[in-house]
Amino acid sequence: MNSDPRIGRTIVGPDDLQLRIAQLGKQITADYQDEPPLLVAVLKGAFMFLADLAKQVDLLVDFDFMAVSSYGAATKSSGVVRIVKDLDCDLTGRHVLIVEDIIDSGLTLQFLRKNLCARGPKSVEVCALLVKDGLQRVDPDLKYEGFRIPPEFVVGYGLDAAEKYRNLGYIAEFLPDAK
Ligand code: IMP
Ligand code: MG
Repeated sequence: MNSDPRIGRTIVGPDDLQLRIAQLGKQITADYQDEPPLLVAVLKGAFMFLADLAKQVDLLVDFDFMAVSSYGAATKSSGVVRIVKDLDCDLTGRHVLIVEDIIDSGLTLQFLRKNLCARGPKSVEVCALLVKDGLQRVDPDLKYEGFRIPPEFVVGYGLDAAEKYRNLGYIAEFLPDAK
């Protein structure tokens, strides 16, 4: 897979990922001392980030998962977000921390935040690993942000192109037409 011509240059390497995730985990641990949050991971893209982040959070956190679909097999957001799998638990009175892989247009997050805020939580904040520079139509308002990256399509570390490349251990540029 690493020699696949469709994998372009490295955008964030494995060591940089782990260093930054350790910092994010420390910040989250400090910020939620009084009341540990419910970590809500957005599937499938955030699964690897959640696993590494959670190990760096020294609190009795709970986990839940949600799956939304905004792209289908395309590489541009349609703006139409659909809940594919909903949460199992009740958010009433909980501190919720949404764990997202990447913010592109910001439309998916805008939808999620509104949807979760309507369920009576004490707070809803967001931890996003990647933010594409300059593409958001609304301020994504992120409490925790891993890396700002150029506005290109990327794969790896949970992120896919048509469901492939999620198991690449770092973030790479995706070259759809390379042979
Ligand atoms: P948004 O609604 O445009 O912000 O898109 C957010 C969602 O689209 C993310 O949660 C990802 O699942 C997916 N996505 C956005 N950009 C990329 C990318 O470069 N590679 C892979 N998936 C992406
Ligand atoms: Mg995706």
